[in-house]
Amino acid sequence: MIDKNLVAAPGSSDRALLDALDLTRLPSHVAVIMDGNGRWAKQRHLPRVEGHRAGAAAVKDTVETAARLKLDALTLYAFSTENWKRPKTEVSTLFTLLKEYLRRELKTLAENDIRFRVVGRVDGLDGSVRAALDMALEATTGCRGMVFSVALNYSGRAELTDVARSLARDAAAGRLDPESIDEDAVSRRLYTAGLPDPDLLIRTSGEMRISNFLLWQIAYAEIHVTPVLWPDFRRRHFLEALVDYERRERRYGGVSEADAAEATSARAVLEA
Ligand code: FPP
Repeated sequence: MIDKNLVAAPGSSDRALLDALDLTRLPSHVAVIMDGNGRWAKQRHLPRVEGHRAGAAAVKDTVETAARLKLDALTLYAFSTENWKRPKTEVSTLFTLLKEYLRRELKTLAENDIRFRVVGRVDGLDGSVRAALDMALEATTGCRGMVFSVALNYSGRAELTDVARSLARDAAAGRLDPESIDEDAVSRRLYTAGLPDPDLLIRTSGEMRISNFLLWQIAYAEIHVTPVLWPDFRRRHFLEALVDYERRERRYGGVSEADAAEATSARAVLEA
């Protein structure tokens, strides 16, 4: 049961957005491409890393809102395999911020029954980062509320390549009949195995790109792009994205209910 007062105080502008939502139609899984940290810092004549530092506050706010709305899953794109091309100091600051976030927030995550998870090639990460991640995974392993995943050293193409390699390995070893491979068999081997596919993908900072994120999983996701830069992204913007999502009509390649009804009545006229 969602406690609306925990999400937004009565009478506030955020509450008006919350009241505009049909809480029975919220997305089950929201994925976010956090973008615009560098631009946020540049606008303030600050070093890029200050944008990432401010971005960590937006992460906290977003996790809190999603958990209070009792979403099943939230996945944040924190570091792509392409991000290694950034200056060394920026990369190390990003991982330091992640470690600091986990150290600071781990107790709150566990207390709120939030299960932490990582998606990506974790074995490509530094030992101290892996240790911090392992600690968070272990501390929240018994949690049964929202699954909060952070995509680290992540690439959608690398993920699909890993799936192909694992299927091929099992087929070559005679453990798997290639003819039995269907979409479920692929889904079960993704880093996100067990999670529902995202219903809503949010991207901040106005760019209209997917950036190699959850390529398989977002096949039917609704996409909400906001001009807000990630460090400025707060509960209000998350609620706005949900309102936008609920306005959409999801057809999964079919037709709308109205069009289906029209087609039925047209057929009835033709057959009369
Ligand atoms: C994109 O902005 C943002 C990132 C690559 C990193 C996101 C990381 C954080 C918010 C740090 C903390 C993370 C966690 C999970 C606690 P950009 O640098 O590409 O921005 P730009 O396009 O404006 O340059």
